[in-house]
Formats: sequence, structure tokens, C-alpha cells
Amino acid sequence: MRLASILTTAAALLTACGAISLQAQAPAGAPGDAPTGRAGRGPGARPPFPAQQRPPGDPALIARGKAIYEINCRACHGADLRGGDVGGPNLLRSDIVLKDDKGELIEPIVRNGKSTPGVSLVMAPLPQVTGDDVRAVAEFIHHVASTAPGQGAPPPGPPVVLNILVGDAAAGQAYFSAKCSSCHSATGDLSGLASRIPDPKTLQTTWVAGGGVGGRTSSAPSKPVTATVTPPSGERVQGTLVRVDDFIVALTTADGQRRSFARHGATPRVEINDPRAAHTDLMSVYTDKEMHDVTAYLATLK
Ligand code: HEC
Ligand code: HEC
Repeated sequence: MRLASILTTAAALLTACGAISLQAQAPAGAPGDAPTGRAGRGPGARPPFPAQQRPPGDPALIARGKAIYEINCRACHGADLRGGDVGGPNLLRSDIVLKDDKGELIEPIVRNGKSTPGVSLVMAPLPQVTGDDVRAVAEFIHHVASTAPGQGAPPPGPPVVLNILVGDAAAGQAYFSAKCSSCHSATGDLSGLASRIPDPKTLQTTWVAGGGVGGRTSSAPSKPVTATVTPPSGERVQGTLVRVDDFIVALTTADGQRRSFARHGATPRVEINDPRAAHTDLMSVYTDKEMHDVTAYLATLK
């Protein structure tokens, strides 16, 4: 009984932590290689890139996914998945994307965000993109990956030019007054911003994410993301969020202690308070033009 339960736990842990690598590394047709329903997995029938082993996706789903991607992901991951103006990684080279089938590995990242220790850029959770929408985005991402000529080669079609300071500063100032001035002021907290962050791309990355991506020289952001964890025992623990994913939430309490909790679905209850949430919300609101206009305006705050 005891051994059985240990084995079950071990199996569960393996599924949790190892599913990703097992899925990709088991040779096709090996025992335990769960059928995925994908075409072309038989021995000898493998094209060189795993992303190209997929059968073509459903065009309607791809089109819907593209629209959702443009609004919610493109600014960071780029029109062609190779990384965008505001600094998300190249998804064509992402192991997670390669191993994802129908959004099951992408969904937790979109829901919880991603913050790899040692990686200065953080992906905030995108709670507005859920269920079927993630499925559609995943289908679009796999479609682009499967039509890319190979890792590292340029995508088909005209190259995407990252041109940062192309905006209209006056239009940006109007946008700033309407959408940003409730929290910021050009003569107050943001005065001298462009002298502090002279590189336009870093400037854009910083304002879009709400700081904390390298713009603020070495010091930590003054308003960190905090979390409150309530285990079933009822003892609430509050602190600065260190990391959160489907399996663990870790925080540092006010007295400097590091606490972490295993997560099982909704237990323990985790509430996250991100002072920069307005920035995440705005990201799905402004257009590329508005983004470039705001950057052009902020570049004048010397
Ligand atoms: C604010 C910019 C931003 C937005 C918007 C954004 N991402 Fe990300 N994304 C990132 C960053 C930064 C990382 C790397 C985080 C890390 O590893 O710590 C990342 C990582 C990922 C990864 C994991 C890549 C890997 O192999 O580690 C996936 C998948 C992903 N994003 C998908 C999406 C999808 C889908 C959307 C839209 C629904 C989206 N992202 C929106 C910035 C963003
Ligand atoms: C609801 C409040 C709110 C709104 C609206 C808002 N921000 Fe922010 N912003 C924040 C918070 C909170 C931070 C993090 C400040 C910190 O860590 O001290 C931040 C950080 C920033 C930073 C980084 C500051 C630095 O010194 O590194 C910039 C730049 C910025 N915001 C620009 C903007 C722009 C441009 C807009 C409008 C398009 C905007 N913000 C809208 C709350 C807001």
C-alpha cells in the first residue's frame, strides 16, 4: 500500500516534471510513447524539424488564432514569432512550442505568465486569453512554425524591420495624457526618463512592461509583485512573489524568509497583486502605431 502510493507519487512527479522531455525524446513507436494522433511519426518518415511533422491545421482556427496573437502576443514575440519590439523570446526556437501539441503546454504559460530565474524579462499572466482562445493561438503558432523554412533561416515574405523611433511624438503626448497620466507625470516620476534610458528599444520595452526589464539601473523595481497564499490550514502568508507556476508558488516574506508551497489545482489559494497590471491590460488595447507614438513622446523626456 505504502509502496504503491510512493510509486504513484513518483509517477505523478514524473508526469509533471518529465512529461516534456519524455514526450520528445522517446523514439517513435517505443513502448510508452503515447499516440499523439500526429501524422508522420513513424520511423523513416520524419522531416528534419519536429515542428514540420504536424499535419496542416484547421484554417479557420489558424485565422482566429492569428487575430488573438496579433492583439495579445505580437508586441513581445513578433509578427513572425522571432521576438518582437518589446523583448519576448523567439518562439520558433522554443522547446515548449516544439513539444506542445494542442496548446496544453502553452496554456499554463499564458495563464500564469513565465518568470525563469536568471532571465531578466518576465512574461506577465494574460488572464484574458483562455481555453479555446489559447487553442487557437497555439494552432496559429504551430502553423507559422511548420511553414518556417528551418531554425535560424529567415521567414518567407518580406523581412520584418524593427523600427522603434518612427512614431509621432505629439500624438504620443495626447495618448499619454489620456491613458497614462492617472499614474504618471512627465515632470514628476518620468522626468528625465529618456536620459536614464537613452536606447529607444529599451525605453519601449521598459514602458510597455512597466519597468523592471533592465531600464531601472540595477535597483529592483520599487513596486514588486506581491502574493498572498492561504493554505487550507488558514494561515495566510504574504510577501514578494519570487516565482509561480502550476506546481509551485514561492515568495519572500517581510522578514526576508523564503517560503514555497506546492500547488494542487486551487489549493492553496493564491492571490497575486501586480502593481503593473495596468500595463498588461493596456497591452491588449493600444495599436502598434499608438505604441510607437508613445515611445517617440517618451524619448523627448530628457
Ligand atoms: C510583455 C511581453 C509578452 C507578451 C505580451 C507575451 N509574452 Fe510570451 N514570453 C515573454 C517573455 C519575456 C518570455 C520568457 C519568460 C521567461 O522565460 O522567463 C515569454 C515566454 C513565452 C513562452 C515560453 C517560451 C520558452 O520556450 O520558454 C511561450 C510559449 C509564450 N511566451 C507564449 C506567449 C503567447 C501565446 C502569448 C500571447 C497569448 C504571449 N506569450 C504573450 C513575453 C511576452
Ligand atoms: C494604473 C496605473 C498605471 C497606468 C495607467 C500606467 N502605468 Fe506605468 N507604471 C505603473 C506602475 C505601478 C509602475 C511601476 C513603478 C515602479 O516600479 O516604481 C509603472 C512603470 C512605468 C514605467 C517605468 C518607470 C521607470 O522609472 O522605470 C514607465 C516608463 C511607464 N510606467 C509608462 C507608462 C505609460 C507610457 C503609460 C500609458 C500608456 C502607463 N505607464 C500607464 C502604473 C501605471
